[in-house]
Amino acid sequence: MSRATAAPALSAPFAAPGADISLTREDMKFISALVYEQAGIVIREHKEAMTRGRLARRVKALGLSSVAEYCAFLKTPQAASELPELINAVTTNHTAFFRERHHFDHLRKDVMPRLVQERSSRRGRIRIWSAACSSGEEPYSIAASCREALGHRNDVDFKILATDIDTDILARAEAGIYPAELIDRLPADVKPLMKLEGAGRGEVRMADEMRRLIAFKRLNLIEKWPMGGPFDVIFCRNVFIYFDTQTKASILDRFVALLAPGGFLYLGHSESLPQPHANLRLIGRTIYERTP
Ligand SMILES: C[S@@+](CC[C@H](N)C(=O)[O-])C[C@H]1O[C@@H](n2cnc3c(N)ncnc32)[C@H](O)[C@@H]1O
Repeated sequence: MSRATAAPALSAPFAAPGADISLTREDMKFISALVYEQAGIVIREHKEAMTRGRLARRVKALGLSSVAEYCAFLKTPQAASELPELINAVTTNHTAFFRERHHFDHLRKDVMPRLVQERSSRRGRIRIWSAACSSGEEPYSIAASCREALGHRNDVDFKILATDIDTDILARAEAGIYPAELIDRLPADVKPLMKLEGAGRGEVRMADEMRRLIAFKRLNLIEKWPMGGPFDVIFCRNVFIYFDTQTKASILDRFVALLAPGGFLYLGHSESLPQPHANLRLIGRTIYERTP
């Protein structure tokens, strides 16, 4: 088995001093297959350097001496508890408050006023799902966008379900603490929608009135989902880019089954349906309506 060209040693905190973080082609294939099987994420060949860096964190955390040793460990039965850590290490969690602003404008101005009016008359439910919520910026932006329409009424049962496969990032989302500068940088018209508390040291914490609207749960999109729906809105943004066509198509079918007729699905800016779907109609930039 030929060893890939030795990588330049990564600086701390990623690699243990002296750890060999080179990755053979065979180990890269093994890791790619494992990550695909566990999370549906396709690691493309050109991502090898990034993968090596991410595995190096696990090498360090486990006190191993090389990526090769880590891969050998993953092949043993004792490695079952390491699999979530591997997935946490390889996920890309980039996100931002009010990222792809047009979705939040659509939700706040077109969707929520109508839903609240419709549901309040029969004390109904409104359910929104943030299906790959990363560190929480997306569900908190959803909460902020919905507060106006909800007002102080208690005749609507409103909840946001926020899920992600990555348990580390989910813990951060649930804590709801962010650098204050992220909020300072928000456009002037959306900043007042956020309800915050001071957390000290240049940080802010999402206020209880925002946090209690959200339930955070670990959920792997390629596994069975425990929820019965229906959802009025599903955000599934910037995660399809990591999946292949087959995985996307199967998840989309399951979204459609959970979406209420007239409900909306928001995808990420570079994402589209793998093929036209009989029950999804494009009504705006990456906004799909569930048809009856
Ligand atoms: C780039 S972030 C997108 C965050 C947010 N939706 C946004 O658009 O700003 C992608 C997220 O998808 C999550 N993810 C990747 N594979 C997943 C899977 N199989 N099931 C659930 N979440 C997954 C990652 O952990 C990561 O937090």
